[in-house]
Amino acid sequence: MTSIIRVNELRKIYDMDDNVQVTALAGVSLEIEEGSFVAAMGPSGSGKSTLMHIVGGLDRPTSGSVNVGSYDVTNLDEQQLAFFRRKMIGFIFQSFNLIATMTALENVALPLRLCGVSRDERLERAYRLLEEVGLKDRVYHKPTQLSGGQQQRIAVARALANDPPVILADEPTGNLDTTSGENIMAMLNALNEKGHTIMIVTHDPRMTKHVHRVIQMLDGYVQ
Ligand SMILES: Nc1ncnc2c1ncn2[C@@H]1O[C@H](COP(=O)(O)OP(=O)(O)O)[C@@H](O)[C@H]1O
Ligand SMILES: [Mg+2]
Repeated sequence: MTSIIRVNELRKIYDMDDNVQVTALAGVSLEIEEGSFVAAMGPSGSGKSTLMHIVGGLDRPTSGSVNVGSYDVTNLDEQQLAFFRRKMIGFIFQSFNLIATMTALENVALPLRLCGVSRDERLERAYRLLEEVGLKDRVYHKPTQLSGGQQQRIAVARALANDPPVILADEPTGNLDTTSGENIMAMLNALNEKGHTIMIVTHDPRMTKHVHRVIQMLDGYVQ
């Protein structure tokens, strides 16, 4: 089996005022197989989000390395990192992180704009993605006009816009009711079956039935 994500001795230390240091990651090493569906679990503050952000190139470590596919993520400059994220990663966040002034369609089309896809083509693709997540009758709605579950479905469609091999989801069901949460997990399952490698962070032990493997974190370590 090929590992698509390789994390080696990853450390992240935040320097705070008064010479206080906070260790978010204390030396994490792990590999995630291509095509797998894994969940990082652990108490609040154990380093799950920090790990996910560094793997996805949203943040940089203090030391250690991350490789995703052929990318040596920790050695990329800002421009290369932006390219890496567009090409390789789809992000889904607990708080949806949609742009409030944009319609569902525009939110999903935005990553395609950043990739230089023509307007007609990106609107067409965004429409198809929203159709796939069951929102074709909501394409002109803005996020505040939609339920949490619907907003997260827009975020799933947006994460898929560039058809990335890896999907990273940080507590994607954390702000949802049980039914909407199950619905999002079923969508992630279906994407995994189509070949996307998926890593989620979750607090909810009920979600682990959907995944192949649980990575248990505590105090900046993988246990
Ligand atoms: N930007 C930051 N500045 C300082 N400390 C941070 C920052 N982000 C996270 N931390 C600290 O790093 C630790 C791990 O945080 P985080 O990765 O968000 O944990 P989790 O997602 O498991 O709740 C926590 O102690 C947190 O307070
Ligand atoms: Mg977190």
